Amino acid sequence: MFEDLQPAPADKILALIGLYRADPRTNKVDLGVGVYKDRDGKTPVMRAVREAEKRLLNSQDTKTYLGLAGDAGFNAVMAKLAFGPGADMTRIRAAQAPGGSGALRLVAELLKRTRADATVWLSDPTWPNHMPVMRAAGLQIREYPYFDAASGFVRFDDMLAALLTAERGDVVLLHGCCHNPTGANLDAAQWQAVTDLVVERGLLPFVDIAYQGFGDGLEADALGLRLLAAKVPEMVVASSCSKNFAVYRDRVGAAMVLARDSAQADVAMSQMLSAARAMYSMPPDHGAAAVRIVLEDASLRADWEAELEEMRLRMLRLRVQFAEALRRQSNSDRFDFVASHRGMFSRLGLTEGQVERLRAEHGVYMVGDSRINVAGLPEDGMDDLAKAIVSVLD
Ligand code: LMR
Repeated sequence: MFEDLQPAPADKILALIGLYRADPRTNKVDLGVGVYKDRDGKTPVMRAVREAEKRLLNSQDTKTYLGLAGDAGFNAVMAKLAFGPGADMTRIRAAQAPGGSGALRLVAELLKRTRADATVWLSDPTWPNHMPVMRAAGLQIREYPYFDAASGFVRFDDMLAALLTAERGDVVLLHGCCHNPTGANLDAAQWQAVTDLVVERGLLPFVDIAYQGFGDGLEADALGLRLLAAKVPEMVVASSCSKNFAVYRDRVGAAMVLARDSAQADVAMSQMLSAARAMYSMPPDHGAAAVRIVLEDASLRADWEAELEEMRLRMLRLRVQFAEALRRQSNSDRFDFVASHRGMFSRLGLTEGQVERLRAEHGVYMVGDSRINVAGLPEDGMDDLAKAIVSVLD
């Protein structure tokens, strides 16, 4: 039965987890998979989440099915977190999904059912799982230019020029904030220009917001999504709680749709739920229930926001320290862009060979495209790390 199968290639990001764990060197540095880490390299359960889990344990008296949409309270608070208090909730529906990837797939299935020949435009580069998820749903893919490796900033004119060639009804996948893998983000004026373009050309925005609160703050990170929502007749969103609630393994996300009116929103929701039924039936409950408890309780929510803000500010500090160390060690401003990027990642602009040398010779792990997880930067070893990077440059 399986004799003709070839082994599937390993996922380039997730493969790093095993490689790093197997490396016996004590001075190794993990800048690979996008997981927040504290100063000690730990990824703790967030305080408010732990408290919510305790409450859940004490109060939950059944584990009977909740239904295809998962936790209704969770869906309501997630829609508000993304779309903001001013959004027209009568046009919005949210379905709990197994993590950000599950939410992406659920939205992709909805798109397939809505327009079988839809083309989804992805940024070049984008998170490596975007393409497989869209393809698995049977959608066509095209790419728009996004990142200028030489300057480290967005190729905005090229991006707009490419999107101007999109067909009416095409879908444009945008990173809501904290672009993965580059760390280069659209500013408010650029979001406005994208909004005008998608309205004028009749494109459907698809916002993937997996790092809300990791860039400029919880509200600021939703700015682009909310600018779009205020203007477009329809849009779709995939959100994730993996990072901002640190519930990675619990698989917590939401697939959302903003429709022309309440009746169309209901139809879109019913299609998402029927797609969910065929893929996994119902999402896992525990993590979403904990997130719902945090967001519905004023004091837990305040504590979560405070801890999230500490994490965000720590990553910003690390960015500045790392850019300074690279400036010192390279005697150049080549890596200054790291300090002005936002979110968990930056792409350093190294070749695959240089990344491989860093791993082999220095025990420094990053994704092959030279994406680094900023949270993994060693606070007390910035110059050593910068020196290692500079040593592989030529
Ligand atoms: C990442 O980009 O490193 C994370 O989103 C983890 C993943 O699933 O790839």
